[in-house]
Order: sequence, then C-alpha cells, then structure tokens
Amino acid sequence: MERAWWKEAIGYEIYPKSFKDTNGDGIGDLKGIMEKLPYLKELGIDFLWICPFYRSPMHDNGYDVADYYAIDPQFGDMEDMDALLEKAKAMGIRVIIDMVLNHTSYQHKWFQEALKDPQSKYREYYIFKESRERPSNARSCFGGSVWEPVEEGMWYYHTFDRSQPDLNWECPALRTEIYKILNYWLDKGVSGFRMDAITYIKKGASLRDAEPQGEDGLHDVADIGLNQPGIGEFLLEMRRECLDGRDAMTVAEAPGVPYEQLDEYIGEDGYFSMVFDFSYADIDLAPGGNWYNQADWSFGELKRLIFRSQESVQQQGWGAVYLENHDQSRSLNKYFRDKAAAAGDLRTRFLQSTALGTLLFGLRGTVFLYQGEELGMRNCPFASCQELDDVNSLDQYRRAIEAGCTEAEAMKFVNDRSRDNSRTPFPWTGEKNAGFSEHRPWLKVNPDYEENNAEKQQKETDSILHYYQKLIRLRKENKESLVYGRIEENEMGEETVISFFRRPEEGPDIAVYVNLGDQSCLVQAEKGRCLCGNYGEARWEKEKLVLRPYEAVMVEM
Ligand code: NOJ
Repeated sequence: MERAWWKEAIGYEIYPKSFKDTNGDGIGDLKGIMEKLPYLKELGIDFLWICPFYRSPMHDNGYDVADYYAIDPQFGDMEDMDALLEKAKAMGIRVIIDMVLNHTSYQHKWFQEALKDPQSKYREYYIFKESRERPSNARSCFGGSVWEPVEEGMWYYHTFDRSQPDLNWECPALRTEIYKILNYWLDKGVSGFRMDAITYIKKGASLRDAEPQGEDGLHDVADIGLNQPGIGEFLLEMRRECLDGRDAMTVAEAPGVPYEQLDEYIGEDGYFSMVFDFSYADIDLAPGGNWYNQADWSFGELKRLIFRSQESVQQQGWGAVYLENHDQSRSLNKYFRDKAAAAGDLRTRFLQSTALGTLLFGLRGTVFLYQGEELGMRNCPFASCQELDDVNSLDQYRRAIEAGCTEAEAMKFVNDRSRDNSRTPFPWTGEKNAGFSEHRPWLKVNPDYEENNAEKQQKETDSILHYYQKLIRLRKENKESLVYGRIEENEMGEETVISFFRRPEEGPDIAVYVNLGDQSCLVQAEKGRCLCGNYGEARWEKEKLVLRPYEAVMVEM
C-alpha cells in the first residue's frame, strides 16, 4: 500500500475560540495555540486541524466566513498566523485548516455586492431564484426553509443558517476564486484542508419540492441535498487546480456518500485523501436529525457500524477515524450514557476514556483527536439556553418545544447533544477560569475543571493524558501493524466487547480487545505480549482473557 505522511500522522483538532486566550478577552486566539505547541508536541501530535479563524461575524463561530484572506481580530492577525505556522513547522507539527466552501457569511463582500446590485456579477456567485412562492420545501440544517426572501419575488438559498448563503459552484468565476483561496493558503505553508460540508456544494433535488416530513411542510436538506449527481466534476477540478502535485492532505466532511461510492471519494484517484464517516458518531440520533428524537442503540450495533465502516474504507482507500469533534457531544457521555464516568468518579473516568482511546488508536485510518478528549472531558451541564452559544443548539431547543416537549425535556436533549459540550474552554489548570483566560470566558467552563485539567494530569503518571501519550507512541512504534496493517474483526459473542486484529504484511499481528461494559467477562484469546492495558498487565485465566469493567488491551501475538 502506498505510504504517505498523513496516513501515519496523529491529528488534533483545535477549536480556536476555546483553546487558550492570551490577550485577556475571554476568547482563545492564535497566540494561545502557539503557546501550547509544546503541550501538543509532548502528547505526540503530528498535525493540527484548526477550525475557522477567518474574519467572520461568528453566527456559526467562524463557519460563516466574511473574508478568506483575513484573520478575525479576536484571533489575532496574519502575522500571528505566519508565526504560528513557522513555529509549528520548526517543531515538526503540520497545520491543516478548515475550508468552508459551501457557503460564506452574508457579510462577505461578494454577498453584500450581490444584494446591493441585482446586475452585479456576484449575483451569480450565490443561488438566487426568482419566484413568487418559496422555490422548494427543503429544510435548512439549522431550522426553517433553505430559502430566504430578499426582495419582492427574489430568494437566496442557504443550507445552514440564513446568515450563511450558499455559493453557486456552477459559476466558473466563483470556482476560480475558490481555487485562488486554496492555493493562497497552500503557498503560505499549510499542509492541507478539512473540507467543510463539501458534499452539499452541488445542488439538485433540494431545489424541487419533496414529500413533507412534518408539521412545517418541509423536508430535511440532509436527505436530499447531499452528494448530488455531477458533484465529482467540481471536486476533480478543485483537486487538479489546487492539490495535484502538492504533498497536501485533504479530509472531507462528506455525509451522504454511500459506502459503495467511496472509491470515487477516497480511492486511488479519489477527490480527497480521506473522509470522515458519521455512522457511529451519530448512533445516538434517530433519522431526521432532531435531537429530541434519540435512538435506542446497543454496543452490538456500535460494533456493526464500526466494522462496516472500517471494512468498506479498507476495500476502497483510506479513512479518518475520530470519536469527537467540535460538532459532537463528548464521547464519554455518548457511548456510556448514564454511566458516563459515573458522575465524577475519576477511576471510572480513567477506565472509560482509555477504553475508548484504545479502540480509536487500534482502528485503521488517520486518527483525529479533539481537544480535551485526551483529558477525558465530559459534557458540560448547561442550566438554560442563556448559557448556550451554538446556533444549532438553540434551534434544536426550539424544535423540541414545538414538538411538544416540556422545557425540562428540551433542555435535557440539548444537554445530551449540544455542540457547546465540546466547545467549552480547555481546562489548562485548576485556577480561575481553568487557566484558559484572565477574563470571563465566552462560554461556560466545565465545572469539573478543578479535578480534571491538563496540569493535574501532566503531574499524575497514571492519568488519561499519559495513557493517550502512550497510545500515540505505540502507534508510531508499531506502524506496520497499527497504521498499515489490515483490520479484521475478531467476532465474539460478548455484546459489550469490540475486538479485532491488525495484520501487517510482515511481522506479528496485534489484537485489540475493548470491553465497553461495566461487567467483567471472559473471552477466548490467544496469549501474547501485552502492549498496553488500562488495568496494567492483561489477565489470563487458562485460555481465556479476563476483561474487567471497561478494560482495554492491545496484545502483540
Ligand atoms: C459543519 C461544521 O463542522 C459545523 O460546525 C458547521 O456549523 C457547519 N458545517 C456549517 O459550516
């Protein structure tokens, strides 16, 4: 199999607003990221994915870009960016950045010009439609119609919030501008892009009416607006114009691509280096995307989803694996539900986090960690909507109330799923504001920061942080198996146990066993050298491996 730096590298996602504030305004900044590079280096990180830092009115925390060539003042300026890129490079850490190319902010000058003058060439950059009636009944991801009226009989289209008008990729001049932006950043020294919402760029079915799905008469755009026929032409052109011949990586947020079609996206001549799969990250949600509609799922199902994803990707190319990101709730809460770190018991938190970590670092694909995952952060209890910032959470709260939930129920669903759970400021220390900022942070700090913070975990040798450090080291030391080896499920009857082998072309296999349940069990397992285990040494009884509650081991065979 072809080798590439991005297959072997460990990624770390940074949400700049919440990582580290250095200028005392309560908002994280680029200097803060720079200050914390040594922490990331020590953890073993090879590249950062930095979420949007461009100038933006921040209706969606930077996923509404007003200028792709400027840094938002709250994060610093271009000099800070240059310094960050330079310092990271000197430390051997690459940087990939988020590219939001499905839409801009309504404040982008293209959109402003388009609004001012119907004759402007920028009208073509967006999707304006003349119609007496709303042109179609697609529902935007953040609620309400995808169509927003602008003047008598004129509408524009937005997949997300109304402050995020969609770009019209059919317009060649717009595509040229997009390629210019990508090349500008590559020339500046970034090592690649995370492509936001990229499977929405081609419009098709959502421009026409579809079967209404609810009281509002709308139909979810996520059902009908993704991966539309013809999208490949745009994506191939983008690759040709910006990426071919460069040693850059691309990871696409690509919901809506069926496994059978993955080859086009991540095969040898695929559009991207890898894609994120949402199948198991969204296991807790019923179809339809409403947070009040939670899915009843089991560990057996989680296992099926993980292996279906792993096997499809393995057949067709390369994938990205993750358990958390800035749009997800914390994995402890998602996967252990009411047993999540048993409400503050640090030992349980250690076991649960390291079990998930062992699973993640055992899987095939480039591993992405999300800030705070290496500390075993949990969801943050939000008392009311006043404590929330996220546009999506506020919309979901409204949807729950409209669907007949009580306020308490709606708040519970939002607490379970809110994107703000993962966006709370990073707990660096047990001091005021968790050492994140001198000033009151823009979003509530998780109240457990005194007992769970980076400084404390750095000092304790048996912390979650040190375990993650070890997992990263192991993955690098055993790259023939853990990076390039094939993955093969080790099927077993125990519902709560996820187990698989990583088989290199040459050399010993590695077996991974992860018990996600809170009960001990015995499983059939060949004996071998224990590479890591969250209880210390693995324990065998005759021919069987004992898996204690939340125990995870990697065994070299
Ligand atoms: C996906 C991003 O991850 C999310 O945070 C954002 O709200 C939407 N795309 C819109 O850009």
